[in-house]
Amino acid sequence: MAADKEAVGEHNWCGAPDADELLGRLHHQFQCDGFLDRRGGRLVVLVDGEAIGDVSWRPAQWGPSEGSVCPAIGIALLPQFRGKGYGTIAQRLLADHLFREYGAHRVQSDTAADNPAEQRALEKAGFRREGIVRDAEERDGRFHDHVLYGLLARSGKPRRRSSRSPGCYAVAAWMR
Ligand SMILES: CC(C)(COP(=O)(O)OP(=O)(O)OC[C@H]1O[C@@H](n2cnc3c(N)ncnc32)[C@H](O)[C@@H]1OP(=O)(O)O)[C@@H](O)C(=O)NCCC(=O)NCCS
Repeated sequence: MAADKEAVGEHNWCGAPDADELLGRLHHQFQCDGFLDRRGGRLVVLVDGEAIGDVSWRPAQWGPSEGSVCPAIGIALLPQFRGKGYGTIAQRLLADHLFREYGAHRVQSDTAADNPAEQRALEKAGFRREGIVRDAEERDGRFHDHVLYGLLARSGKPRRRSSRSPGCYAVAAWMR
């Protein structure tokens, strides 16, 4: 998917990678940690057993304390599965997973200002639009503004962080 502009989406496309090198790197990473480590991960989105895309998260740090680190999520669905509500559900399920399994207090996402589908999907998933990050991303030889979204855990109190490694949940197991 990552080597195909249409599959990954124009907003995720940073130029053609060396497909063999990319595959080798992903294979190695999957052997090492199954795409899940303490701070980040990647899960397949399954619908009725079919892989339709993936969701991922990585740490975003707002302050020096550990409690100031929050997962920043991303998503890409194959073109034929877009516009059917799966992006909304998958991102909400991922956020709930990060709240529950990692004790996250805040989950965030940012997307290009000219990506209305992702902005709408995040809003439908319950994320709040928080502002514009100017010239956040360099892509196609120019800078693009991003819109920042955040979703907070229901309780306002910091939760104890889980040291549990998350099981390899198929986000999509919940999407039936
Ligand atoms: C962005 C993406 C994850 C959204 O998932 P999805 O399953 O297509 O989204 P949903 O069907 O849940 O919701 C999309 C919403 O955006 C709306 N939308 C789609 N294109 C739109 C456009 N050009 N202008 C305005 N609204 C648009 C849809 O109408 C829908 O809203 P509605 O239910 O109120 O009608 C998916 O389209 C995708 O994988 N795109 C390519 C990769 C990408 O852009 N990833 C995000 C990068 S940060």
